[in-house]
Amino acid sequence: MLIMLPGPIQLHERVIRAMCRQMIGHRSAEFGEILKFCGEVMKEVFGTRNDVYFITGSGTAGVEAGIASFSGVGKFVTLENGKFGERMGEIAERYAEVERLSFEWGKPVDLEKLKEALERGARAVAFVHNETSTGMLNPAEEIAKIARKYDALTIMDAITSAGGDYVKMDEWGIDVAVVGTQKCLGAPPGLAAVAVSERAWEFYNPKCPLYLDLKAYRKKLPELQTPYTPAVTLFFALEEALKMIKEEGIENRVKRHRKLSKAVRTWAVNAGLSLFPQPDKYSDYSNTVTAINIPGGITEKELRDTVRKEYGIVLSSGQDKVKGKIFRIATMGSIEKFEVMATLTAVEDVLLRKNLIKPALDFARRELQP
Ligand SMILES: Cc1ncc(COP(=O)(O)O)c(C=O)c1O
Repeated sequence: MLIMLPGPIQLHERVIRAMCRQMIGHRSAEFGEILKFCGEVMKEVFGTRNDVYFITGSGTAGVEAGIASFSGVGKFVTLENGKFGERMGEIAERYAEVERLSFEWGKPVDLEKLKEALERGARAVAFVHNETSTGMLNPAEEIAKIARKYDALTIMDAITSAGGDYVKMDEWGIDVAVVGTQKCLGAPPGLAAVAVSERAWEFYNPKCPLYLDLKAYRKKLPELQTPYTPAVTLFFALEEALKMIKEEGIENRVKRHRKLSKAVRTWAVNAGLSLFPQPDKYSDYSNTVTAINIPGGITEKELRDTVRKEYGIVLSSGQDKVKGKIFRIATMGSIEKFEVMATLTAVEDVLLRKNLIKPALDFARRELQP
């Protein structure tokens, strides 16, 4: 099977092999070295000098840790133009007063509305950088710039951007950034990394959930430990995945993700399909996942099932509101030209048979030239 999902992603053989080994103590020097290495590479990935904490849990655990730990800040505003923005709103509601700004899925967030919410007294902005559910890249830098003007804290879900697209936490002035390991980092699911600015600590809330209390992670970091038993096996995998990121170089990795996603988009548009997100001058198409509208004449289920059965390629469906309306092709982690061309060939074959599109593989091939 070839997994083209927006997480969990297809693992590289090196990452799979790294997990097949005996346990080590999580308070041992050996584990400490792994934690140190992972933290150092993650700083580069996030574009920050801030410390990075690792939580055993999926990406949502990282987002909840970021929101809950700094919920002492006061009122939140959340930007919601997809499933994961909405989840941030749901999390924030549990810990703070929140104004949830909701926008149509696949449409840009309205920056004027953000300003108005900040005028009304919001003290923190929580938003998703790369909205996986719609294939939209939200304007992190612009959002952070506005938040800064009002001296508000920024909490960014970088779960499907970090490691695949530019994330410049310090340059943009982001206070908290979160990633899950099963996306662009190229590791299995189960760990979340959270980077935190010094300023965020002013707003620490000691009543946050014990397991997600980032202060406990901060206290243990100088000893190169985590407060509770981490998923050691997943650290073996993450260490290897991050070695691969170092070897490739972050700049090259971002370029590769951009090139692959552009090839998917170019193919789709030239085949006569339409892309789901409608970015404005501030936002953009995602560089890690492409959301394509299902054409009339085939159901989303039929398309995905046929591609899976005949070609062994796993595509992603739409979620919630857009279930049945879109399909998604992720270009995350170690994916290369080979996997992208195989996927487009399979999808094209199934849609061509029903006369629903025009052949367009040449357009993708051209985008993928070295
Ligand atoms: C942007 C974004 N945020 C949050 C999540 C939730 O992450 P997890 O399922 O790892 O908790 C996802 C998962 O797809 C995501 O893509």
